[in-house]
Amino acid sequence: MSNEIREFTEFKSKFTLRIQKKLEGVLSLEDNSIGILDAMRYSSLNGGKFIRALLVYSTADAFKINVKLLDQVAISIELIHAYSLIHDDLPSMDNDTIRRGVPSCHIAFSESTAILAGDALQALAFEILSENKYKGISDNMRLRWINYLSSSIGAAGIAGGQYLDLLINNKSTELEYLNYIYSLKTSSLIKSCIILPAMLTKNITKDEFLKLEEFASILGISFQIKDDLLGYMCSSTTLGKTQGKDEQRNQPNYINLLGLGKTEKKLEENKKCIDKLLKDLALEKSMLHNISNYIFNRSF
Ligand code: IPE
Ligand code: IPE
Ligand code: MG
Ligand code: MG
Repeated sequence: MSNEIREFTEFKSKFTLRIQKKLEGVLSLEDNSIGILDAMRYSSLNGGKFIRALLVYSTADAFKINVKLLDQVAISIELIHAYSLIHDDLPSMDNDTIRRGVPSCHIAFSESTAILAGDALQALAFEILSENKYKGISDNMRLRWINYLSSSIGAAGIAGGQYLDLLINNKSTELEYLNYIYSLKTSSLIKSCIILPAMLTKNITKDEFLKLEEFASILGISFQIKDDLLGYMCSSTTLGKTQGKDEQRNQPNYINLLGLGKTEKKLEENKKCIDKLLKDLALEKSMLHNISNYIFNRSF
């Protein structure tokens, strides 16, 4: 095992544990009579990879920011991600019955519970992000965080992307348009994982900030392309979700538009762009480099 892989494996274990504990904390109530919390916990704590939280902590590591200052960002983003997956699986959307190796939220509970648990997770995310927890975070910073994150999940982010994704179901589409949809439905939240922490860095120029945004944007699109690839190649058991789901429901994706070889080539090209941007930012040896490698090489 190379030093880089060993370093990232240790980092990943440490911060996966950290985010799990934090999520357990915000999703536990002394009074457990609020039944909707069971569905919220089920979908937030059950077997996710926590890549978005790991991206937040990797950015903190790269810019030498105290991780404590970013816990609320990591928690909020994971809660939003969990909400987006609950809704993504609903019968009116992808109609998927397995998520993270267990029945999807609407199967384990009910459709109405799943919708409401998603709504409540989104609300909880902003409740946590707006909390005045540390002196090191100003009111103005929290407002900037809320502003960026909310716009990344609305009409110009996840919700808009999911809307367009459903609109192209059973239709043919152009690759450029698919890229646009991926930038909204997946990349916008991945960008927040990197940009919210980067807002805390003082020594970053405007040009560097734009480069970091470009890096995050390509990483996010590549994340979705890799998801397409794995969804085609891996078994449902490995994936923890239905293999070949896009083929089953005639959903355009990278594989059915470009084929396997060209999709792999596109991922290689994107990885080269990402490595170049990290080098320009003098972050080629940072945890952001390590986590990018993990995202491109992951097997589920
Ligand atoms: C799945 O995301 C949804 C996409 C945006 C492709 P992840 O692969 O990060 O899902 P979990 O959280 O690990 O289950
Ligand atoms: C990702 O889209 C879901 C969101 C961006 C909310 P997909 O529908 O392609 O993801 P999976 O494969 O179900 O996880
Ligand atoms: Mg979907
Ligand atoms: Mg889906």
